[in-house]
Amino acid sequence: MDRLATEFVASAGALAHCPRWNRIEIAIVGRSNVGKSSLVNALTGQRGLARTSRTPGRTQAINFFTLGESLALVDLPGYGYAKMPQPVATRIAGALREFLAGRGNLQALILLTDARRGPQREELDLAASARERGLTLFAVATKCDKLKRSERPAALARMRALEAEPILCSVHTGEGIELLRRRVLSAGR
Ligand code: GTP
Ligand code: MG
Repeated sequence: MDRLATEFVASAGALAHCPRWNRIEIAIVGRSNVGKSSLVNALTGQRGLARTSRTPGRTQAINFFTLGESLALVDLPGYGYAKMPQPVATRIAGALREFLAGRGNLQALILLTDARRGPQREELDLAASARERGLTLFAVATKCDKLKRSERPAALARMRALEAEPILCSVHTGEGIELLRRRVLSAGR
């Protein structure tokens, strides 16, 4: 895998605090604990770049990572974690909404769903609003290492609701990572 220079640059709690630069951004969005931060590490080939956790609610700000000369990966806080204190959840949901609707640098969205679960209402809504905004949408079903071989066709079928070609991924086996990486890099051309 060709390595692109990558580093953590900023953490923003709101749209107004996001970096002012000309980089094209590709953001990773999905339910809390689905594996967004793990995917940042897998896509950049740098373990420990983004903080991951076994418990949900780890990422609570919008985190920016450079990827080569002109791109940036954005690790977004997750949604749907019921045990998060209400004021925190409200602030995060607001920042997320604001970023997705108003971030000018944003060009593509990696919509991450658990391969065992498939897209739910939130993911369908996110896909619809990404389309409305003209963002490139990558529909990724992750943790596919947890699927039995016989469960894979159904997992792919569930993804059809997102109306984008699905990619099965696993950061543990590495399945789908190189394919997604190539797509992400070409989105920035
Ligand atoms: P928040 O920041 O809380 O929204 O979570 P996140 O979406 O960033 O999830 P994170 O990357 O922290 O990963 C959550 C848990 O899922 C960790 O225990 C990871 O090791 C695990 N995980 C992530 N990707 C995979 C995968 O492909 N397969 C398996 N089996 N586990 C994974
Ligand atoms: Mg995270």
